[in-house]
Amino acid sequence: MATSLNHELRTTMKQTDAITVDKKLIDTLAARARPALPVAGAEREKLIARIKQLLREKNAVLVAHYYTDRDLQVLADETGGCVSDSLEMARFGHAHPAETIVVAGVRFMGETAKILNPEKRVLMPTLEAECSLDLSCRAAEFTAFCDAHPDRTAVVYANTCAEVKARADWVVTSSIGVKVVEYLHSRGEKILWAPDRYLGGYIRSVTGADMLLWPGYCIVHDAFKADGLAALRKKYPQAGVLVHPESPMEVIEQADVVGSTTRLIQAVTELPHDLFIVATDRGIFHKMKEAAPGKRFIEAPMGGAAASCLSCAHCPWMAMNGLVNLAWTLETGENEILVDPEIGRRAMQSVGRMLDFAERIKVKATGEANIVSPA
Ligand code: 13P
Ligand code: SF4
Repeated sequence: MATSLNHELRTTMKQTDAITVDKKLIDTLAARARPALPVAGAEREKLIARIKQLLREKNAVLVAHYYTDRDLQVLADETGGCVSDSLEMARFGHAHPAETIVVAGVRFMGETAKILNPEKRVLMPTLEAECSLDLSCRAAEFTAFCDAHPDRTAVVYANTCAEVKARADWVVTSSIGVKVVEYLHSRGEKILWAPDRYLGGYIRSVTGADMLLWPGYCIVHDAFKADGLAALRKKYPQAGVLVHPESPMEVIEQADVVGSTTRLIQAVTELPHDLFIVATDRGIFHKMKEAAPGKRFIEAPMGGAAASCLSCAHCPWMAMNGLVNLAWTLETGENEILVDPEIGRRAMQSVGRMLDFAERIKVKATGEANIVSPA
């Protein structure tokens, strides 16, 4: 199956040959990303207490992604905020009555919160937390691509900037991508998909939809290696394999469960295995351990013994979020996310379409459709 998927991927990529993904820019920005300042001991305790107080004083709620630092995830949980995948982060911030939403994650997540809540203040610990998928897909080029294919419905992954969302017909996250494309395919619609080539290829293989794939990629998931995973599975034949669909096809092919971050956490409680090999950012281990205490988790291999990796299973931009810059943004109100109101209004239509659809078909943020058979 891997060979036919790869053949399919290569065939469509011919149609998107003209699109350039600026790998040099992505690598440069990833290398430049500085992890949050570490804090420990009494200073850490003091900062945590201060952040809790500021969240109350400023009528703010903390929404954190599973890939962020454990301290931030605990803080979000303990203060009535939420730790989740991108779909649930968007929904939670939208439904919550707080005047300020603090998003610990990467910039597109803050922008999505602002698009959905133009009247609220959205703050982030850093405005420099990029995402290589977002960087893979610049608005001008995306618009030209859409203009060149007016017969196709433009479906974009949430990991894109507000301008790209504004041009798209639909925004989806990994929790709901399969369901949305299944629905559009059943209506006979042809899809133009951006920016993640692997997630797009996976969705296409599950739904059979006619999809043109933008050649973007996530630097973290792109680095997982199929041969290394095969060797690890041989060493631990009793292990379950959990894979985020931003990973290469040959890695996805070896999974017991493919799905969004929430789906993968849910899988550790559902599957009988006591040991899991996990192909996604290692920040997720905090919630996996919490969900299944006593079970064990191993990072999927990123390369051969001599390989070097840019991310080493941890998103360099997620790692920029920490206690110090979280306290600072709350204290000063700096790092506010702003979205041009007209772009925000148009982006709201494509994001809102996803949220309405999720509500209609009662998709929880678990992406239950994203299960494949063991390899
Ligand atoms: P999820 O929506 O599955 O959390 O994915 C977001 C992301 O950026 C994964 O790399
Ligand atoms: Fe983007 Fe990849 Fe980081 Fe997720 S892990 S935010 S897709 S670069």
